[in-house]
Amino acid sequence: MGVAAASPHVLVIGSGGREHALVHRLSQSALAPRLRSYPGNPGIHQLAPLLATPDDSARTIAATARSEDIDLVVIGPDAYLAAGVVDACTEAGIAAFGPTRGAARIETSKAWAKDIMQRSGVPTAPHHTFTDTTALRDYLYAGTGTVVVKADGLAAGKGVLVSDDRPACFSFGEEYLRQGSGVLVEEHLTGPEVSLFAFVCDAAVLPLACARDYKRAHDWDEGPNTGGMGAISPPDLPPEFLERTTEEIIRPVALEMVRSGSPFRGVLYAGLMLTEAGPKVLEFNARFGDPETQVILPLLCSDLLPLLTDVARGDLSEAHIELSTSYACGVTIASAGYPGTRATPRTCTLGLVPPGSVLYHAGTALGEDEQLQAVGGRVFTAVGQGDSLPEARKRAYELAAQVDFEGAWYRTDIGAK
Ligand code: AMP
Ligand code: GLY
Repeated sequence: MGVAAASPHVLVIGSGGREHALVHRLSQSALAPRLRSYPGNPGIHQLAPLLATPDDSARTIAATARSEDIDLVVIGPDAYLAAGVVDACTEAGIAAFGPTRGAARIETSKAWAKDIMQRSGVPTAPHHTFTDTTALRDYLYAGTGTVVVKADGLAAGKGVLVSDDRPACFSFGEEYLRQGSGVLVEEHLTGPEVSLFAFVCDAAVLPLACARDYKRAHDWDEGPNTGGMGAISPPDLPPEFLERTTEEIIRPVALEMVRSGSPFRGVLYAGLMLTEAGPKVLEFNARFGDPETQVILPLLCSDLLPLLTDVARGDLSEAHIELSTSYACGVTIASAGYPGTRATPRTCTLGLVPPGSVLYHAGTALGEDEQLQAVGGRVFTAVGQGDSLPEARKRAYELAAQVDFEGAWYRTDIGAK
């Protein structure tokens, strides 16, 4: 099922580089959609003007979308999925791309996700779940060696500790227990990481692409974890990896979610570790990745809008995906202090965007004088595309060098060997 209406009216929710990439690709659709955004950013607003809402509750967003005759709502961030925006849109009779709040538990509850993985036989690290401090202490102090301690719920990328320091593991877990979250302790896996994305519509799955995300702040994977300092696609993997891993990991999980009464519709993102025993799931996300989306969507030859609409309306039977054979490299341009302290707003100057590259906005805003300001931690993603990874990387860095604001910095090794 495609989008029947001419010039469909589409609302994209979110304000990061991921949503700018979504809006950018949607703006190129042959269906010539009218695009709106909420809350968006200055880059997004150039293509998708703001749809103002009285507040940002799921109900209000759905009611506003309805009164503005929106045909499709596309949700970027997990917080809006967890808040039930898809459920509210469905109740209001609006097609929404993304899982319901119940199905988003595959991301919002690591314990629920582990349960689904166990029941579907999908490889993941063995784990124990704790809700009690004494049991957590007894378990951690009974052993030695590296373990991984995780908060059960959403923790904005901060809910994981990998350590062999058992007292540190205990106090990390204890803090989450105190906040009322469950805590998982799991086996430490080793190997390269890869992000796999597939569209899922109940029992139907359609592989999209793989990417590599660079999570640590500094070159050569040093420093603290961040929301993502860059990404490349495709990573160096055997040609059949995407299809095979979608069959072995995404499909059984999609089927188990249908069986458990929480069918998934949207994009399912598996964070995988390629261990010696094969790929194992570190986590699932119920949405597009950021910054992976900024490097995957440039490689998509198919029209994005019918794909998202088909998933939202519940029929993948006509959908197909064609990917370019080229490469994309995305470099996050961050503010001083990221991922720690919040930076003071700084005026940005942007140079020319050379051919084969695109600059996506994330933490930007317009100042009182309409000047572009860097206001967030991750401010832009500079994306280069090319026939080889080195070419894509060269273009991304040429573009990144054109962006200027006080304190701007980026990793220099994204896409390097
Ligand atoms: P998660 O939020 O579960 O994806 O975890 C964040 C990061 O922690 C991952 O990208 C991995 O680098 C690391 N991690 C998570 N689980 C494990 C594990 N079982 N073994 C080793 N590293 C892990
Ligand atoms: N790239 C990590 C994330 O989107 O969660």
